[in-house]
Amino acid sequence: MEKLILPDIPDLDKLDVYKKHGGFEAAKKALRMSPDDIIEEVKKSGLRGRGGAAFSAGLKWSFMPKTTDRPKYLCINGDESEPGSFKDRQIFEFNPFQMIEGALIASYAIGARTCYIYIRGEYYKWIKLVQKALDAAYEDGLLGEKMKKTFGTDFAVEMYLHVGAGAYICGEESSLMSSIEGKRGYPRVKPPFPAQAGLWGDPTTINNVETVANVPHIINRGAEWYSKIGAEKHPGTILFGVSGHVKKPGVYELPSGTLLTEIIHEHAGGVLGDKKIKAVIPGGSSMPPLRGDQLEGVRMDADSLKEAGSGIGTGGIMVMDEDTDLLKVLWRITHFYHHESCGQCTPCREGCGWMEKIFLRMLDGRGVKGDLDLLVSVANNIEGNTICALGEAAAWPVKFMIARFRDEFEKYVGEEIKLEPADKVHSMRKTETPIAPFALK
Ligand SMILES: Cc1cc2nc3c(=O)[nH]c(=O)nc-3n(C[C@H](O)[C@H](O)[C@H](O)COP(=O)(O)O)c2cc1C
Ligand code: SF4
Repeated sequence: MEKLILPDIPDLDKLDVYKKHGGFEAAKKALRMSPDDIIEEVKKSGLRGRGGAAFSAGLKWSFMPKTTDRPKYLCINGDESEPGSFKDRQIFEFNPFQMIEGALIASYAIGARTCYIYIRGEYYKWIKLVQKALDAAYEDGLLGEKMKKTFGTDFAVEMYLHVGAGAYICGEESSLMSSIEGKRGYPRVKPPFPAQAGLWGDPTTINNVETVANVPHIINRGAEWYSKIGAEKHPGTILFGVSGHVKKPGVYELPSGTLLTEIIHEHAGGVLGDKKIKAVIPGGSSMPPLRGDQLEGVRMDADSLKEAGSGIGTGGIMVMDEDTDLLKVLWRITHFYHHESCGQCTPCREGCGWMEKIFLRMLDGRGVKGDLDLLVSVANNIEGNTICALGEAAAWPVKFMIARFRDEFEKYVGEEIKLEPADKVHSMRKTETPIAPFALK
């Protein structure tokens, strides 16, 4: 199978090598097309976002206003902070010019003359690599004012790298824009959507790194060619990041719709120690987990995973063997979301903390009979009641893990006992959260 995003070409991160293999030919072609034709082509290709929601890229671009005298912006989302996701950094390292070329084409299609590449603060190595690639592209006249002469066009886009400060929430698109604006990374209520009021209130499109890296291929080889790769309704290749108890963890580029079992057992070498699988989270930590006995026939595309009771998310597959303590897993995931909650919405801010405290109590041998139902109730009260989807990201692992593995958790909850409240203040924030007592033993 041909790899479109991470082909086996040595030194593809060097501009001359990228150009020798057809790099920036798509940009040349695109700049001779009308923006509407590009959007139509991307729509027809069926390309769907690789940042989590799998939304049609062409359709999103078409939401940008055509007649406006306000500036328009493109943001490339490389925050990549979801546990289990580590695929965008492969593009930054091994094929950064394809992302830059895709971003250039997308900017032209939506009429943006400024593009920000947002990268997570901890990606120190990759920050330097992307800046190096941007510098090389500028020097070669592929970006900025000089590109007008290079491509014989009057369109020019300035591309900037914006480095985050290490907050998961800044991957959420509206929070990402607040962060670029120099404000605290708080998500905004939608509507208005970014195409109506984005960066500094102006029309903005946000796309994931991998999403735009697909675009040069679509322009070069056509929507029809692209739409025939992989799953019909979610075409293309996907970078699957496989982690956990597998022999060969790593990023595997495969057609969408590849069997989950094929990815685990063939590409990732199977389970460590040839043990059985207890659970798999197929799309990064926020997606509902699947039981080991639910995996047969599950295909890795948005619709198949939805049908199987989960989601494609970022394609980060986390494999857990039969000896995994799911309570520790769930506590660790919840601890992450609790820590990363921006604190604006009460259900998320308080609920994540409550869930974490209950998990810690259970791990400490002080679980009580109603705890599992209480956890599900807290998760249900977070879901759908928050400004951004971090609420769902925190709630889903809890409610689906308990629903699908209830037997695993029952052993942690004893007989019902009446606990006297520690104090009369309602907020549990009053109580200090102990740091993983079980991990210290
Ligand atoms: C809490 C949270 C964190 C997110 N983090 C990322 C991220 O790191 N990278 C990303 O591309 N999308 C992330 N998203 C999704 C973005 O909001 C947005 O949907 C995506 O960047 C759009 O790009 P796409 O349409 O190309 O997938 C996150 C969403 C939420 C709710
Ligand atoms: S859901 Fe959580 S992270 Fe999102 S805006 Fe509300 S408090 Fe912040």
